[in-house]
Amino acid sequence: MSETESDIETLRRFDDAMFSARGVETGYGDLQVLYGVDIDIQDDEIVLVFGPNGAGKSTLMRALFKQLPLWNGTIEIGGEDCSNLESNQMVTHGVAYVPQTSNVFPNLTVAENLDIGGIHADDVGRRHEMFELFPRLAERQSQAAATLSGGERQMLAMARALMPDPDVLLIDEPSAGLAPQLIEQTFEHVDQIRQAGTAVLMVEQNVTAALDVTDRAYVLDMGENRFEADADTIRNAQRVRDLYLGQ
Ligand SMILES: Nc1ncnc2c1ncn2[C@@H]1O[C@H](COP(=O)(O)OP(=O)(O)OP(=O)(O)O)[C@@H](O)[C@H]1O
Ligand SMILES: [Mg+2]
Repeated sequence: MSETESDIETLRRFDDAMFSARGVETGYGDLQVLYGVDIDIQDDEIVLVFGPNGAGKSTLMRALFKQLPLWNGTIEIGGEDCSNLESNQMVTHGVAYVPQTSNVFPNLTVAENLDIGGIHADDVGRRHEMFELFPRLAERQSQAAATLSGGERQMLAMARALMPDPDVLLIDEPSAGLAPQLIEQTFEHVDQIRQAGTAVLMVEQNVTAALDVTDRAYVLDMGENRFEADADTIRNAQRVRDLYLGQ
């Protein structure tokens, strides 16, 4: 084992995690990207995934939402084997996903985007809850999503995914491309989402800011788990800082 690897903490595994992925392998065509990734999400947790560009973070989110087939491995939700479900069945099993890009319908209004996100058409009550969580969206209900600011569009993407009131939200780089003052606000929203009862698994490059609301974090590198610890340990781990945070 190299010196670097000897410093890496072994993975803690939860027997009773609400969402539990084991040994996930997937890729594109002949290209294998993930080589046996483990992820646990417990009730009411915010879990962070970070790592270098191209590590396979977005691929992991797609695999966990079953937008990519599992080549190997399992996904359990509430103890039920969900490895063979389709994406739309993941939604009915309480999982929601906000992709890194193309996460709203630009030509539809804010209200229409929310209605499409809901399981039941015209779920006015749930839409109202989303407007309470994101008041700026309430003021822009009949505005086309294409005309929203970057921060507002990200709020809409989150709200749309939250319409079915999921147990866990998978969200890929929610603060990407946002101005510094909006980055903090994004993580405040993530925290509010958790407080409202939805656990969150988020991929983020703004690691230091994301750690402020994070319970546990995984470092993913070259398609494998490299490090996993609670937020305080990650913040103070010089090895992780040197290798993955550039500081
Ligand atoms: N649709 C695709 N078809 C083929 N290869 C892909 C596809 N999407 C991603 N890849 C490849 O899979 C690997 C992992 O990509 P992925 O987007 O998962 O990385 P990432 O960790 O999310 O990176 P970033 O930090 O840049 O978002 C890369 O080598 C990428 O080129
Ligand atoms: Mg990505």
